[in-house]
Amino acid sequence: MKFSNLTVVEHPLIKHKLTIMRNKETGPKEFRELLKEITQLLTYEATRNLPTINVKIETPIQTTVGEMVEDKKITIVPILRAGLGMMDGILSLVPNASIGFLGIYRDPDSLKPVEYYLKFPPFSENHYVFIVDPMLATGFSIRYAIKKVKEFGVKNIIVMSLLSAPEGIKNIEEDYPDVKIYTASLDEKLNDHAYIIPGLGDAGDRLFRTK
Ligand code: URA
Repeated sequence: MKFSNLTVVEHPLIKHKLTIMRNKETGPKEFRELLKEITQLLTYEATRNLPTINVKIETPIQTTVGEMVEDKKITIVPILRAGLGMMDGILSLVPNASIGFLGIYRDPDSLKPVEYYLKFPPFSENHYVFIVDPMLATGFSIRYAIKKVKEFGVKNIIVMSLLSAPEGIKNIEEDYPDVKIYTASLDEKLNDHAYIIPGLGDAGDRLFRTK
């Protein structure tokens, strides 16, 4: 399956860490640590095309011009609650980014997203927004998040997920072909309850030990 907006970040370390995360015997401490580590590896790829600005500095030897990322123009939007598990990983590499919170739950009958909280920082011109959610399943929550961010006039939107289902990627691509998605794995499909197969179960429950 080929999706033009999707990058599956292929790396032996990601595969290794993901296999431990998928294992049902892996507990919350290790699960959280691994999600943070994989998020760091995904961030490395997902930030590859960020613009840099020239900055004049003094080395101990002479004046030179270096390049820097304007990390104050970057906002991370973790979709509550499982998205919180990816926040520290991306923040560790982009420490001055702002955080915009979006609380969405999935209606158990319609499977459609229902918003219960939104708090975004001000967005500057040419702002970059990274929407993070470990499980891109139906894609409805992420599609909703993209719509919300676009309402604030943001044009540069990047999605990062740990696992993705083809159904969800297609769903997002249809409406938002301009949004690039970075994931650690494109899994097989969704089951009847919209869980990713083979997946890793409920990411929120595994992160926060709520089951
Ligand atoms: N959300 C999860 O936590 N897991 C899935 O498999 C799908 C959605």
